[in-house]
Amino acid sequence: MKGIILAGGAGSRLYPLTQVASKQLQPVYDKPMVYYPLTVLIASGIREFCLISTPHDLPRFRQLLGDGSAWGLHIEYREQPRPEGIAQAFLIAADFIGQDPVTLILGDNIFFGGDAFPRAFAEFQSGATIFAYHVTDPERYGVVEFDAEGKAVSLEEKPAQPRSNYAVPGVYLYDNEVVAIARAMKPSPRGELEITDVNKEYLRRGTLRVQRLSRGTAWLDAGTSSSLHEASAYVQTIEKRQGMKLGCPEEAALYRGFLTLEKFESLVSGLPKCEYRDYLADVATEVRRVGIKSA
Ligand code: DAU
Repeated sequence: MKGIILAGGAGSRLYPLTQVASKQLQPVYDKPMVYYPLTVLIASGIREFCLISTPHDLPRFRQLLGDGSAWGLHIEYREQPRPEGIAQAFLIAADFIGQDPVTLILGDNIFFGGDAFPRAFAEFQSGATIFAYHVTDPERYGVVEFDAEGKAVSLEEKPAQPRSNYAVPGVYLYDNEVVAIARAMKPSPRGELEITDVNKEYLRRGTLRVQRLSRGTAWLDAGTSSSLHEASAYVQTIEKRQGMKLGCPEEAALYRGFLTLEKFESLVSGLPKCEYRDYLADVATEVRRVGIKSA
């Protein structure tokens, strides 16, 4: 399965921060925001990526992530000139997707905990798999309604009167049909190709799976200055307590077997002296001592 990271948009809610760097490049505690969704996909076994952003911001992402080879990945880049909808990603990246299934993750969605994603990726065969997360403010999101048997029966984008408290987070798994579905779509009244319309089409076809994320999974929003600060505080709290970093792509690539320990060690030795390097060096020492214990 191939992976798309969507990291465009105007980022106007974070002005003036976004005058100098796009939203997904802002720091969430000790790393750029995009490291977190990238790590989620690496930990789920995705190795080939296409990152989509604005013509203005794309050079910064290239500078940060390169072609991915240093981390045992392959990363391509595509421009989205205007924010014309999340589902436009499948048109922009159609040549990258080719005949493969594809996952899309929003570059500002931050997740921690649980093994729901690696499991869903391993189990995925066809159709679409999306997730549902209980929130207090569902009207801000795509909302999924379940029947008494727990089957998804409706999907709505930012409904004024939500039919449930289950929001749809920004991670979506699709078979290759998604490209044809996106091609046939019309923009919504707000002028966007809506991801919720893609999901509705899979629901209509009877091939949509909606997996509820348990309360052990954290899904954080970093869309405003205060939620960005809270996300940083959350990461700091967990990292300080556990002595393990969240959202560390190099570590995830090592654990997934995309990088050998030797390559990982040589990568670490090329980093400037900093806390991040010290952490990766400790990871290498531990893996040399006891092998890889967890992904
Ligand atoms: O975060 C999950 C929610 O994301 C879902 O529950 C909604 O169904 C989905 O529509 C989306 O809602 P948002 O209101 O958060 O979408 P927003 O327009 O803020 O875009 C989400 C991210 O995707 C944001 O970082 C910018 C980026 N983006 C968005 C659009 C519309 C792009 O890169 N290009 C775009 O054209």
